Amino acid sequence: MTSPRQRVSEEPVVQPDHTDGPVAMTGGVVPTPATQPPEPNGAPLGEGAPLADEQAGPNAPTPDLGPPGSAPTFSSRSHRVLAIANQKGGVGKTTTAVNLGAALAELGYRVLVVDLDPQGNATTGLGVNARNLDTSVYDVILHDVPIEDCIEPTSLRNLFLVPATIDLAGAEIELVPAFSRELRLKRALASVTEDFDYVLIDCPPSLGLLTVNALAAAGEVAVPIQCEYYALEGLGQLLRNIERVRANLNPGLSVSTIIMTMYDARTRLAEQVVEEVRNHFGDRVCRNVVPRTVRISEAPSFGQPVILFDPTSRGATAYRELAREVSRGKA
Ligand SMILES: Nc1ncnc2c1ncn2[C@@H]1O[C@H](COP(=O)(O)OP(=O)(O)OP(=O)(O)O)[C@@H](O)[C@H]1O
Ligand SMILES: [Mg+2]
Repeated sequence: MTSPRQRVSEEPVVQPDHTDGPVAMTGGVVPTPATQPPEPNGAPLGEGAPLADEQAGPNAPTPDLGPPGSAPTFSSRSHRVLAIANQKGGVGKTTTAVNLGAALAELGYRVLVVDLDPQGNATTGLGVNARNLDTSVYDVILHDVPIEDCIEPTSLRNLFLVPATIDLAGAEIELVPAFSRELRLKRALASVTEDFDYVLIDCPPSLGLLTVNALAAAGEVAVPIQCEYYALEGLGQLLRNIERVRANLNPGLSVSTIIMTMYDARTRLAEQVVEEVRNHFGDRVCRNVVPRTVRISEAPSFGQPVILFDPTSRGATAYRELAREVSRGKA
């Protein structure tokens, strides 16, 4: 059996659509898995070879994750804007946006969660009913409605939400001919960023124009990675697209934070995935991993972050620890 390590760079590279402006990434392709599934209990995931640069050979440089030193040197009150991105579906982007946001708010930070996914899961997960809304992030991005007009309070005092509705599903297409289509969110956020310690943007599971808007508006990217076998698949493509946004739109952008989610301590595989991700991304990987727990998965159906739904649960503790770590930076 060949090594079951996941080869993230074997997916096709999506080239920018040069007919359409500097950064068009609407062709995000989810690759077909190229490797065999692991044996029960996990054969070794690999010996730490490079991830995104495999095609270029073993001596190729590791992908540029951002300006050197950008990850560890955060001041705790520096108005950080984080895009929570991974084009892979179901890896814990929304769960992280909602629960990290809530835990940061509990620490006393003013936090704005921006739901940039037409699925609207961060909106419902924070107890906001999309049917009762006059305006949403769609109106902000497509119709220049001031973002202040659609900020909703949540059940936590310091936690606010820019909600999404299903209208946003059309935005990827409606944005194509729009003026400054990649910078709509950045411009909208400019007027409120100073009011918040943290803005967390929950991205959809694609690399289309909505995600590009998030990457252009953010200072940092936080990438949740599920502790599962195919966890790393597609990461190379994500990193290349982040580099493209940095080159064309947002020179200060860095991949500052990698969050391991749905960790199941009973499996060796989870441990191996974490180890491999740490080998590749070093101290950008948060020391605190988020365990897979039923309470975390139940909380959204009650419209509550887990720290309110079950304050003493393992999931609540994990997100509190993660919030402390993220707010300190990872020195
Ligand atoms: N730590 C966890 N323990 C248990 N369940 C979890 C955990 N994190 C996330 N989940 C569940 O996994 C599913 C996917 O999580 P989530 O919606 O956060 O992923 P996502 O990356 O935002 O998905 P999408 O790509 O569709 O937006 C959800 O049902 C969520 O409740
Ligand atoms: Mg989501």
